[in-house]
Amino acid sequence: MMKDHSEAQPMMTDNRHVEIDGVSLKLAQPHSAPAQWIGQQEILMQLLACWIVVDDNDLPLTPRLIGSPGVGKTQLAIAAANQQQLPLFIYQCTADTRPEDLLITPVLSRGGEIEYHASPLVSAMLLGGVCVLDEGNRMNEKSWASVAPLFDSRRYVESIVAGITIPANRDFRAAVTMNQDESTFEIPDYILSRLQPTLKVGFPNKQDEMAILQYHLPFAEPEMLAMTVEFLQRSHELKLDFSPRDGINLLRYALKRLTQDPTHPIGRDAAWREALEKCLGEDAADLESLAQRKSRTLGGDAVPLGLADLFFDADDPLHPDRDVDDDDDDDDERGDY
Ligand SMILES: Nc1ncnc2c1ncn2[C@@H]1O[C@H](COP(=O)(O)OP(=O)(O)OP(=O)(O)O)[C@@H](O)[C@H]1O
Ligand SMILES: [Mg+2]
Repeated sequence: MMKDHSEAQPMMTDNRHVEIDGVSLKLAQPHSAPAQWIGQQEILMQLLACWIVVDDNDLPLTPRLIGSPGVGKTQLAIAAANQQQLPLFIYQCTADTRPEDLLITPVLSRGGEIEYHASPLVSAMLLGGVCVLDEGNRMNEKSWASVAPLFDSRRYVESIVAGITIPANRDFRAAVTMNQDESTFEIPDYILSRLQPTLKVGFPNKQDEMAILQYHLPFAEPEMLAMTVEFLQRSHELKLDFSPRDGINLLRYALKRLTQDPTHPIGRDAAWREALEKCLGEDAADLESLAQRKSRTLGGDAVPLGLADLFFDADDPLHPDRDVDDDDDDDDERGDY
């Protein structure tokens, strides 16, 4: 049975405050920065489709955006919200996010009274905007539990601190970005089942990657852009994780080094190489070796490990089982173990 929240309809009292059940909430400021999504129109359409309601009884979906670090998940969500021309609120989830941080925070005002501040999420719910829960899997289960009713047909949250139930406006939409690294939590299934569908953001193709870099760094020289795109495309081919964000950072630094000292200009190539090393590490200079090392580590579970493998790299000269003829094709050699 759905709860009846008809008595608790929110009412705007001025353009920054909403009242629910006699409690005044101060709204967060919407995020306003232009953001364009370049290339890969299909995934943008998929995200926008989630937010369509096809009937009065239909509900929007809250998708999960996944993909490698720096591939554009947050950018996609922001661009989609901008395209809908809805107010956008971004909530940065962290390991320290407590359930109430996601909803309402009591703040002591100057007059000594308690003022209730609505989180970006609750502000989007009240104003009928979009909330992007960014890096959602950095947040623990307890915080996710507090928004479980929001992402099913109930579409409300309950704030213990303010003692009120907050219904979402019909126009409220949301998306959650998820990160792929070690400092994340496993989100429980009952929450994941509410965050559907899963949309995977992949790396851009050459033409799109060039357009992305040009969009962010319109002042970059074509030659520098070309070198960076070449590097990124090669790394995507090799299934390495260098992203458009890495490309933007490296190019930005290279351009600064280039213009730093007009009396002793350093060459483009030198500036680019230095930026590569300083931004992405020395290993980035040799993508092929990096890819080989990575596939060895990842292939670890396919290849049975001997005791010696725990102590020595496969190509370590001290490895007792090391093959003497130094063939690069490791996988084949180990295939008949
Ligand atoms: N298709 C695109 N159009 C425009 N900009 C893009 C696109 N893809 C990536 N970018 C740019 O690349 C950078 C990284 O993107 P973003 O921060 O959205 O990545 P992310 O997937 O959210 O990364 P993380 O996993 O670290 O959260 C940003 O500066 C973003 O503007
Ligand atoms: Mg992000």
